[in-house]
Amino acid sequence: MNLPMAPTVSAAPELSVKEIAGMQDEVRALAAERRAVILAHNYQVPEVQDVADYVGDSLGLSRRAAAADCETIVFCGVHFMAETASILCPEKTVLIPDLDAGCSLAASIDAEQLAAWRAQYPRGVVVMYVNTTAEVKALTDYCCTSANAVEVVRHIYATHGPDTEILFGPDMWLGAFVEKELGRRMHVWDGECHVHAGIRPSDIEATRAAHPGADFLIHPECGCSTSVMEYVAAGDVSAEGVHMFSTGGMLQYAEQAEREAVARTSDRRDAGRGANGSSSPARAQAVVATEIGMLYPLRMAAPDIEFIPANAEASCKYMKMITLPKLRDALREMKFEVRVPEEIAVRARVPIDRMVAIG
Ligand code: 13P
Ligand code: SF4
Repeated sequence: MNLPMAPTVSAAPELSVKEIAGMQDEVRALAAERRAVILAHNYQVPEVQDVADYVGDSLGLSRRAAAADCETIVFCGVHFMAETASILCPEKTVLIPDLDAGCSLAASIDAEQLAAWRAQYPRGVVVMYVNTTAEVKALTDYCCTSANAVEVVRHIYATHGPDTEILFGPDMWLGAFVEKELGRRMHVWDGECHVHAGIRPSDIEATRAAHPGADFLIHPECGCSTSVMEYVAAGDVSAEGVHMFSTGGMLQYAEQAEREAVARTSDRRDAGRGANGSSSPARAQAVVATEIGMLYPLRMAAPDIEFIPANAEASCKYMKMITLPKLRDALREMKFEVRVPEEIAVRARVPIDRMVAIG
């Protein structure tokens, strides 16, 4: 199968360090003037992450949007995320700096397709990843993110009964991960994210060979996730070093790993070693299988850990459409507004609220 790969270069014009600093000041001043909160996904370019009020994963961003005390939210992420913010905060103005920032996964199912799928399984409970349009969410029973998909499905079996038929979508790799974790089969839509699906088992083979002691941080949307679970099940890879994480989970791992690295260094110092650097321990390594924007927050959170991309080409062109100049223009001109019509928002809020209540 030939999977399309997004270009690695951002569409942003090159800015000097001075220009970036000047524009960041402008953005902060405009945000204060507009009483705006800037939310940014972990895959955003560093200069946008640095100016945001909050950087996080899909679940964290939904929560922040719901709790934000402001008139305007500027969403530095992709369109479905801005829609989710609009669904949760209909009284706020939600802006996205580029309306073309879409998502190949969200585009893999539309409302008509979901309605037809539902009609095939009238007793089925529909669980959809948040990477879907508002119209799809309006036909969904429960939303989930990569951080809570297992919990959401477990909750459905516990409350609706163990034989409940579940229609899970649109990501087939995340669906396979949930099935494996819970040991049950669901009906799984065959959508995928072109960036994560492009991270193949061969990437894991190559990074394993090059970095034998490294931990693996794997986003469950990845095309390699099923094979890594198989390596673990077969005992080829130690389960201890393999973590299937949302981007938020990866960040928590980094924070913990950094604390441990700092503690190791101070223990060595107390033991009187390492002063001349001759016996300093090797830097811990972690291979990261997700979109490469994630490397920036990981490296900021854990400078003592070496983070290695599983596939350095795994860049989401949609996430990279959001640039600092476009963010500045969005605030200056109050564009581009994302507003979900109330009749859709009312229905789409139900599965999101259910998800947030579960965890
Ligand atoms: P999370 O941030 O929820 O892990 O999702 C990753 C993603 O691909 C968002 O588009
Ligand atoms: Fe969508 Fe990009 Fe995230 Fe893939 S990486 S799910 S295309 S936003």
